[in-house]
Amino acid sequence: MPRTDNDTWDLATSVGATATMVAAGRARASIAEHPVIDDPFAQPLVAAVGVDFFTRWAAGELDSADVDIPDHPWGMQPMTDLLAVRTRFIDQFAADAAAAGIRQAVILASGLDARGYRLSWPTDMTVFEIDQPQVIEFKTRTLAELSAEPTVDLRAVPIDLRDDWPAALQQTGFDPGRPTAWTAEGLLAFLPPEAQDRLLDNITALSADGSRLVAEIFLTSENSAQIMHAATQKWYEHGLDAHIDDLWYRGERHDVATYLAEQGWHTTRTPASQLLTDASLPVPRRDDDESESYYCTATLDTH
Ligand SMILES: C[S@@+](CC[C@H](N)C(=O)[O-])C[C@H]1O[C@@H](n2cnc3c(N)ncnc32)[C@H](O)[C@@H]1O
Repeated sequence: MPRTDNDTWDLATSVGATATMVAAGRARASIAEHPVIDDPFAQPLVAAVGVDFFTRWAAGELDSADVDIPDHPWGMQPMTDLLAVRTRFIDQFAADAAAAGIRQAVILASGLDARGYRLSWPTDMTVFEIDQPQVIEFKTRTLAELSAEPTVDLRAVPIDLRDDWPAALQQTGFDPGRPTAWTAEGLLAFLPPEAQDRLLDNITALSADGSRLVAEIFLTSENSAQIMHAATQKWYEHGLDAHIDDLWYRGERHDVATYLAEQGWHTTRTPASQLLTDASLPVPRRDDDESESYYCTATLDTH
């Protein structure tokens, strides 16, 4: 489905539905035989959205053998495995940042992420969540209805990340003078290349020395678009009624680790395959000429 400059969504449509898809992955990973993560909020959140295919996957009612193409690089099970390791990796990033004394975190494109409800944060920590207004409103309301309490001073910033989010963030109490832990998980490919640059520039401008960042770099090529398309066609045949392919912006974009390094960040690349291998989960097949998705962790230290 083509994207437009000012498009909006809820959690059952367009880019919003991808937040429900990845939450279904976290829910399913949480009920695996040997779970790598435990996200008790993912399943009820997905059920509340009401996209039946994702609700059934989250609850363990669909089999990969039925809804995935055998040995295909992308599918509900490969997505679930990736979500397991990415969630654990970013949970650890948050814990490390807190242990290093950082007391301010910003979760960009928070979707149905429940870190503000399930992680154990320092008592003097503040976490800001930014996403589109309908996404923020739905998660906040649904978790309140489930009697879930935030485990931190959690502040919602309902705004599009293509708009002036730095102003909205600061109006909610963000202090650019204090080091921040930034998270951009499952986000960058949904931004046009120039919006990605602007986002990274804004993060750098708002980051005091000692700030940290983790970003998922999900690399898409012409080939990966075909891979996604084939996988999602099969899901549509099995009743998925939210259209989630063709939401990524293709074309050349700056490499995030290189771009951040040029702005003074010390960066580390962790390939997704390494996280899967470390967790004894299968690594999907990849063509030789295809770049590998990775996690960029970065620290700003200008001294
Ligand atoms: C794949 S989901 C990831 C959600 C969350 N980070 C997670 O991992 O569960 C993509 C998220 O990016 C958000 N998003 C994408 N583009 C955005 C934009 N321009 N402004 C605000 N949010 C955006 C969507 O609303 C959605 O919640």
